[in-house]
Amino acid sequence: MRILGIETSADETSVAVVEDGQHLLSNVIASSVDLTAKYGGIVPEVAARSHLEVITPVIEEALLQANASWDEIDAIAVTRGPGLLGSLLIGSLAARSLAITKNKPLYGVNHVQAHVYANFITSASPALRASYQLSASQPKFPFLALIVSGGHTQLVLMQGHLKYQILGKTSDDAAGEAFDKVAKILGLPQPGGPAIAKAALPGNHEAIKLPIAKAGELNFSFSGLKTAVLRAVQELCGQDYTFPSSKLPDLLNSQQVADVAASFQSTAVKALVDATVKASRQYESVEAVLAGGVAANQLLRQELARSLPIPLLYPDIKLCTDNAAMIAALGYHISTSVKTGVDPYALTVDPSLVM
Ligand code: KG4
Ligand code: ZN
Repeated sequence: MRILGIETSADETSVAVVEDGQHLLSNVIASSVDLTAKYGGIVPEVAARSHLEVITPVIEEALLQANASWDEIDAIAVTRGPGLLGSLLIGSLAARSLAITKNKPLYGVNHVQAHVYANFITSASPALRASYQLSASQPKFPFLALIVSGGHTQLVLMQGHLKYQILGKTSDDAAGEAFDKVAKILGLPQPGGPAIAKAALPGNHEAIKLPIAKAGELNFSFSGLKTAVLRAVQELCGQDYTFPSSKLPDLLNSQQVADVAASFQSTAVKALVDATVKASRQYESVEAVLAGGVAANQLLRQELARSLPIPLLYPDIKLCTDNAAMIAALGYHISTSVKTGVDPYALTVDPSLVM
């Protein structure tokens, strides 16, 4: 079964074709990340306009790369939330129109849940094989999933397909959001995650002592860490807490930026690793998987793999950050569990959809 997936929840316009929730045939991602960098973050109106401009060519490119005609597509899956309203509307309207005109079943997908399903993509067409590093086998149930993105941070026990229990979540900022905000304090570009990871390379992760917030049990809290970074940087610059954060980057030298980036990264990673290790002791799980944009972080991958008593799987970097392959992969498992697709005339989006 070949599913065409459409993802437009934030600033990436992505369309992919995946066979049986596992075999990748195409995964086209048109990013407006250059616009995000230019405006210092995602501007909802700019993102929606950008989706509208590229959605049609991205769909055509995904079919071309998959070497598939519409006759060879069995269904369409689209992100229905969570995300930015204007962005979600562009993808869902495209999906609904195509489901009607091409007469295909349509499935609405939860974006956060879909991040986990990137781990189920384990093979690719000969054309794509060289550009993706895929796990040899699919995750085995029950497994723990640490979902860490720009909008979400949660620890989930996956008991079966579409069957799960939320073990913990963030009580304030998401992990990726903390990377993005700290990058801003340091004058690094957006999205902050990759910029912090790069800046941290020559840094000393013990240079600045930062606290790990006690959020209770398996929960997380990142807003205090962000504030602690701000205070530490103000102090490094010889300023008090009233000094505006926008003026700090001009006062920092490159070694200080590296040290703060490294100290922040290792503290954030430690918070994520500690809770996941704790969960692996409390809940029976045979494996753990990483998902979401922050799963691209090399230190997080290394530290989790080193500390967990169970094997760790993670997707290729291109499948960690937002992509439509994960939407198509989850769409497949939804399609096998329900009798019919949703009514394309009635599918709604939900910006605050929860997992
Ligand atoms: O999953 P994603 O693409 O979008 C959401 O669903 O939110 O995640 C984006 C987030 C951003 O906050 C970005 O800074 C972070 O993932 N990110 C990283 C890395 N690459 C992306 N964070 C840490 N290290 C990275 N290498
Ligand atoms: Zn995402």
